[in-house]
Amino acid sequence: MTKLTDQSLLKTASYWQGEWHDADSNFEVINPANGDVIAKVADSTATAAEKAVAAADKAFAGWAARPASERSELLLRWQQLLLEHQDDLGLLLTLEQGKPLAEAKGEIAYGASYMQWFAEEAKRVYGDTIPAKSGDQRIVVIKQPVGVVAAITPWNFPNAMIARKAAAALAAGCTFVVKPAQLTPLSALAMAELADRAGIPAGVFNVITSTDAKAIGDVLTQDKRVAKFSFTGSTKIGKQLAKQCAGTVKRVSLELGGNAPFIVFADADLDAAIDGLMASKFRNAGQTCVCTNRILVQQSIVEPFTEKLQQAIGKLKLGKGTDDNVDIGPLINNDACDKVDKLLHQALAMGAKLHCGGKRQATDSLFYFPTLVTGVNNDMAVAQDEIFGPVAAVQSFDDEAEAIALANATDSGLAAYFYSRDIGRCWRVAEALQYGMVGVNEGMVSNPTAPFGGVKQSGYGREGSKYGLDDYLDVKYLCLGGLDK
Ligand code: SIN
Repeated sequence: MTKLTDQSLLKTASYWQGEWHDADSNFEVINPANGDVIAKVADSTATAAEKAVAAADKAFAGWAARPASERSELLLRWQQLLLEHQDDLGLLLTLEQGKPLAEAKGEIAYGASYMQWFAEEAKRVYGDTIPAKSGDQRIVVIKQPVGVVAAITPWNFPNAMIARKAAAALAAGCTFVVKPAQLTPLSALAMAELADRAGIPAGVFNVITSTDAKAIGDVLTQDKRVAKFSFTGSTKIGKQLAKQCAGTVKRVSLELGGNAPFIVFADADLDAAIDGLMASKFRNAGQTCVCTNRILVQQSIVEPFTEKLQQAIGKLKLGKGTDDNVDIGPLINNDACDKVDKLLHQALAMGAKLHCGGKRQATDSLFYFPTLVTGVNNDMAVAQDEIFGPVAAVQSFDDEAEAIALANATDSGLAAYFYSRDIGRCWRVAEALQYGMVGVNEGMVSNPTAPFGGVKQSGYGREGSKYGLDDYLDVKYLCLGGLDK
């Protein structure tokens, strides 16, 4: 941590009402690359979460009343500060999360790009006028911020998942309380420090750090003052949180787990498919919800495809995120490594074939070798569960109909990818895939101009794009009568 240029970005207390709040006890933040304790952070309680919600509630009327252009300016100032401190924020992120430094800095730019996008969108919250049924009436539709927004965010993108929720909320005129993942609170707290420096008013952006996810989650999903709840994380927890939100009929958006198929048809440009697959599969060591989970390859090209894929995987460098030229960092913790290992070994026991990798660098190490396994089928757990690790699991199919059926045979529906050079097939398959996002000859679909989100049990709501503000706005209809008098 001594390497941070700006040491005051390292914060260890929760942040609400524009102030830092210690707790009676602290929890350790561990560097997954070496097990070192990086910091001890406030283990805040439910009472603290209630205070943060109260702060957001108090700040709401003033923030909502500010002209959109002013909110936009403040968001842009925050975005600029994120970019000015990209090196420090990237380092902090790598130290607590493990991803290679270049990827961590990329995440800071990615998060900042949502702030810029929503700063612009803030100025475009248009309403409507609707022809009335009677001559003495006029019908007008306006859009208003929903109120206090609460969010729970994951450890795999400690900056960007907060940035894209908070930017949309603040742009719409909402105030915001976030509980970041217990494994990665430092990036969230650094964002709060920069929000403060940007001049975001007290109570508008608040962060509660805690190990008591249940207690904080109960407040954020059940407090009547919270109008909307946004969650990125596992499907299992998302379902539970959505149930809790029903008690006070909150608006909810959920970005839950995926099980992304990556289909390669025999007519695809194989080199382009390999490039797209490497980006999609191995980003963040395979720990993203949109990472490829199942690689479906048309039978006639399985052999050349596997050969090329093995060569590409062989070039990946596994190591500490802070070392030079590293492509794959450690997994987040021991449970993550155990899960990857278990899924892989179940598949091997059921007849799949290992080509490379398949183990940790050393016992108890969180570094898992990039792995290639073929002969997988949809009955194997590795094809049904989210791997969330650097395992490329290849299965084969005979024709387009089978590829679509296999791809859709899951309860998840976040991202899917396919490669083909046949324009007719591109349209057919894109339309047939039951997913919220489809990469057609493209392995990376995330960017602020596009609506990020899923269908089926991958959740609902969209983040980014012109649709991204809708989740934070109420539509109000005004009926003006008696206009003939
Ligand atoms: C996620 O894994 O949840 C987000 C990935 C992205 O924004 O690309």
